[in-house]
Amino acid sequence: MTEQPKFEPIRGTRGADDPGPRNLPLDLQNPDITLPPETDNGSLPNLKFPFAMAHNRLEDGGWAREVTVRELPVATSMAGVNMRLGPGVVRELHWHKEAEWAYILEGTARLTVVDPDGNLSIDDLKPGDVWLIPAGIPHSIQGMEEGTEFLLVFDDGNFSENETLLITEYLAHTPPSVLAKNFGVTSDHFADIPKAEKYIFRLPVPKSLDLVRAELPDSPIPRPYVFHTTEIEVVRYSGGTVKTIDSRNFPVTTLSALIIEIEPGGMREMHWHPDADEWQYYIAGEARMTVFDATSKARTFNYRAGDVGFVPRTLGHYIENTGETPVKVINVFNNRLCIDISLNRWMALTPPDLIRGHLSLDETVMKALRRSRDAVVR
Ligand code: CO
Ligand code: CO
Repeated sequence: MTEQPKFEPIRGTRGADDPGPRNLPLDLQNPDITLPPETDNGSLPNLKFPFAMAHNRLEDGGWAREVTVRELPVATSMAGVNMRLGPGVVRELHWHKEAEWAYILEGTARLTVVDPDGNLSIDDLKPGDVWLIPAGIPHSIQGMEEGTEFLLVFDDGNFSENETLLITEYLAHTPPSVLAKNFGVTSDHFADIPKAEKYIFRLPVPKSLDLVRAELPDSPIPRPYVFHTTEIEVVRYSGGTVKTIDSRNFPVTTLSALIIEIEPGGMREMHWHPDADEWQYYIAGEARMTVFDATSKARTFNYRAGDVGFVPRTLGHYIENTGETPVKVINVFNNRLCIDISLNRWMALTPPDLIRGHLSLDETVMKALRRSRDAVVR
């Protein structure tokens, strides 16, 4: 018999052992839920949902799963999709009522978008690349030689990947005589169109971008829908790095994002966002976050690669690396600009007597307050 690791919900004289029934692997992944810090208090909504617990829709050559308001009820403002497309596999031509923000995780994705002025955006996107498709703009995605995996974030928690407007369904639900008139041909030409959606399906890997572009008008979209994060500098802090993608460097975007790396021992400092909810996707590592709300409410959650986190606007939070390896996490905000209030800088810029009068801090703490930003501390 293998020995079970000892982990009991006991803190000092509080708590008691858990003789079972018990899902120990989940307890061990969520130690701050099973054995909360003493500072946790009151009730907060659930702020975590792993993609591993989201229904996975398996299709011909790919899959898609989503974390929406149905999985994570607090997240009314944003929903996310994790999608895999094998080599050549296509996510059908479609559009939707929501804006779509994307981040490439693996492989290469070919994104094809046509804007309202008839301009064309066609690009092969690599890990770290981002796109923003405004609501209603038609597009498709195709896996290149090695396939692709990516994250999508939509600006409405009610979004469903299963309820987008699809080119197959639009044609299937239009009278053939209307199709004939629309395209200027006879209706018998539409006898073989699919009766139902294709959604995700296999095609051969397409020709190289240069060959495909050569066959199409050269009319790039003036305000690009794609953004290469490799082209922007990371900002280095004492405990890690941050890349900011918002309307200042990506003018078309209506959602902004931070790509954060936190070294072992490091922590995204205590802060909040005055004007946006924060939708998180953990790419690597293990972390914890405490979210603070009015009337002394605080709850701590644990996250690891593949998990989704959420922070309602204005609520205080930090992200602490609790593992031995770097944490990489994406924060997406439902606002064009990324802004936050740093607790440390707020205190550093407030008259010291006012701060001392509130918190009875000694001179060591008062001297440690920083007027300059250290967004990831250690
Ligand atoms: Co889409
Ligand atoms: Co934040």
